[in-house]
Amino acid sequence: MARTLSRISICLRSHVFISAVILAGHTSSSVFGNEGRANFTALTGVLRCQLSSGEWCGLYRDQVEVATKPAPRGDVDCPKDCSGVGVCDYDTGTCYCPAGYGGEDCSAPRTRPCWRMGPDHRDLGWLEHKDWSHSRCAGYCDTDIAMCYCPPETKYGHVPAPEGSPLGTPPVKQGRPLYMCHPKTDQYNQTTGWGQVPYEDMFGKHGWCNAEASAFTCPCRLDGIVGQYCNIKVEMNCANQCTGHGECKLGFCKCHPGWYGIDCSRKRKGLPLEPGDGELKSPWLKTVIKQVLAAADPPVHLTRKRPFIYVYDTWPEFNTDVQQYKIERDHCSYRNWVHGNRSEWIGYNAYAVESVLIDLFSTSEHRTFDPEEADYFFVPTMAGCLYDVYGWNKIPMWPPQYHGTRPFGSANLLLETQKWLSQKYPWFNRSKGQDHIWVMPHDEGACGAPKQIWLGIILSHWGRLDFPHSSNTQYGADNYSLDFHHPTFPGGWLAHSVKTHPCFDPNKDLVIPCFKDPRHFQQSGYMGMKSTSTRDIFLFFRGDVGRTRDDPKCMYSRCIRQTIDRLVKKEGWKEKYNVWYGDRQDTPGEYGELLSRSKFCLALPGDGWSARFEDGILHGCIPVIIMDNVQVPFESILNVEAFTVRILQKDIPHMMEILGGIPEERVEEMQRNVHKVWHRFRYMGLKMIETEVDTILKRNAINAGGTLPKNEGVEKADSAVDDAFSTIIQWLYWRIPFTRGKHRPNETLFLPAT
Ligand SMILES: *[C@@H]1O[C@H](CO)[C@@H](O)[C@H](O)[C@H]1NC(C)=O
Ligand SMILES: *[C@@H]1O[C@H](CO)[C@@H](O)[C@H](O)[C@H]1NC(C)=O
Ligand SMILES: *[C@@H]1O[C@H](CO)[C@@H](O)[C@H](O)[C@H]1NC(C)=O
Ligand SMILES: *[C@@H]1O[C@H](CO)[C@@H](O)[C@H](O)[C@H]1NC(C)=O
Repeated sequence: MARTLSRISICLRSHVFISAVILAGHTSSSVFGNEGRANFTALTGVLRCQLSSGEWCGLYRDQVEVATKPAPRGDVDCPKDCSGVGVCDYDTGTCYCPAGYGGEDCSAPRTRPCWRMGPDHRDLGWLEHKDWSHSRCAGYCDTDIAMCYCPPETKYGHVPAPEGSPLGTPPVKQGRPLYMCHPKTDQYNQTTGWGQVPYEDMFGKHGWCNAEASAFTCPCRLDGIVGQYCNIKVEMNCANQCTGHGECKLGFCKCHPGWYGIDCSRKRKGLPLEPGDGELKSPWLKTVIKQVLAAADPPVHLTRKRPFIYVYDTWPEFNTDVQQYKIERDHCSYRNWVHGNRSEWIGYNAYAVESVLIDLFSTSEHRTFDPEEADYFFVPTMAGCLYDVYGWNKIPMWPPQYHGTRPFGSANLLLETQKWLSQKYPWFNRSKGQDHIWVMPHDEGACGAPKQIWLGIILSHWGRLDFPHSSNTQYGADNYSLDFHHPTFPGGWLAHSVKTHPCFDPNKDLVIPCFKDPRHFQQSGYMGMKSTSTRDIFLFFRGDVGRTRDDPKCMYSRCIRQTIDRLVKKEGWKEKYNVWYGDRQDTPGEYGELLSRSKFCLALPGDGWSARFEDGILHGCIPVIIMDNVQVPFESILNVEAFTVRILQKDIPHMMEILGGIPEERVEEMQRNVHKVWHRFRYMGLKMIETEVDTILKRNAINAGGTLPKNEGVEKADSAVDDAFSTIIQWLYWRIPFTRGKHRPNETLFLPAT
């Protein structure tokens, strides 16, 4: 305990401590019980910086706030008002066009054809070409996004708008989708070679395209259509749902007249800033939309805290196009809309933090619309989403028509984004990009980042430090060590990226927690779950331990999971030490409950990062980290040694002796320390999250007899307490001087070779 107190005083060093409430937001729930809540709020100032290393936390807390000024608003006209299909950026007079449209006024076609498609939007010949592709279309191809529908001559066919209709006219009939539904045979029973569905099931009298209640149904995976027959229209997914000031079309916000920005959060100069009626017309949007504070006039709060962050309206190619091309409702976001326009969590999207951070930065009180006062520039891209889209169609690819690995495509998307913004705006060149923030959520994080963005701040989940380095994936399409030769990259692609820098530089980058929706940790004691048992499992890990992989070189997980798996079996660790390890069958039970019952939880790599570290922390289980030279989330800014055990890869054979040798008092101290930081590893700040957390806490309070059971940690479940995003913001505040040329005495930034 003495140790902890001395750390608190280090954190408070030279700062006058005021007992002010330093909570970021407010919830009025009484589930904490009056006494508990009051205690916590009073103590928050002291407790806030527990286990932080360095000065970042206290500095942010004690800053003097700055007066809020109204956001600047643009007034530059766009060519032909973007032909009624695009959105005018009144700051620069540039048209932002949705997929399908291009040119400076959005009147030029910009198509994404289906694979092997003729000018009539139909396949060139089912039997002439035998090659399979996701985007091969046996019906009518909507070439805006390469979406396939039943052909117009069928009863449920797609009927496009008549020739000569104004741009952007919706189709006469959308029709039933044929996407991911490929015919096995043609009408003469000849095998196509690229499909599985009998012809009659798709096109026969009783088939999908012709019968009202067909026995066979094609999947209904496009965003915005649900129901067994894909005939029910629901809301589609867009950043902050266009702030209620626009219509969402598969990720592109078509703003209402006068509104602009990729999230429609701003209004043209001179026009009244009355609230939009979007939420009135579509009341369900309320469950998602957060007000964009930076756009409000008059301001909601009179003063603001730094850092000020400018969020680019990234060009469609690097952002909204990729979302419109995704075709699969469950890709590229953390939420989607289902029956009755209910907003739901997407069960699992490993790269969800990308869309979470876009919504968080855009609605953050730290956002500014004045780039001249900005401390940072956030660049929203769909580089993670691209992993799901890349290779499904010839478009998008970077360079065009050139198909590399997914890390290659994604890195080139970032490179093109950097070129675009450094030509269009002055701010990148001014700081060499050191104040620009990028997100790279993929398995191996920023290992393949183009050197042109390397000086920026990269948020990723993968803290690998060694250099030179090579890809550790076992999945060929993600192998970033595979070189590519294209005229754009003299000497090969690797010479412009991988070979110029490590994967992560703790001086400028941050390893951030991955996104888990609150249901994931609803079984945690920290969420007020009444614990029914003590931590009776000694060591726990559930996941892919590589038994069924075709991986002769044992690349996956650096062979760590596989090695432990052999030891567990060979030496009988389950019986001997109560180690639960392996797949669901080896570790039966509810995941969150098992984590809550475990003393130690293994944090091992997968193909790159894996979320096991966060899983452990969120359930109060002490992480045992085994991956040499890789930092875990926030390791560069928290005193991670205080609440984790790290074991070197070479010591795996002795790991049970190491763990067994830790004195009980030390284990208890580490447990107490997990209580002190767990809240920094979950994301708050979005409507859906806060609603969900509220529901869980209320339910658990009721189950516990009215108020949440008291434990060190449960008080921090309140959504107003610092979360992962606040932690990022607080760290950014401290870093401001270092983006302006100042460096700490011993700081050695890893400069890419030029
Ligand atoms: C189609 O061909 C397969 C084998 O080539 C045969 O088994 C089947 O009976 C045929 N169906 C029709 C409707 O002719
Ligand atoms: C759901 O939203 C869509 C798109 O805005 C709308 O067309 C539909 O009528 C809504 N459905 C319900 C049940 O409100
Ligand atoms: C920034 O630098 C790049 C590369 O030197 C140059 O091509 C670009 O025009 C510059 N941008 C501005 C706005 O001056
Ligand atoms: C990745 O590419 C490198 C370079 O070609 C190669 O040596 C390595 O074996 C590849 N890894 C996998 C898993 O294919």
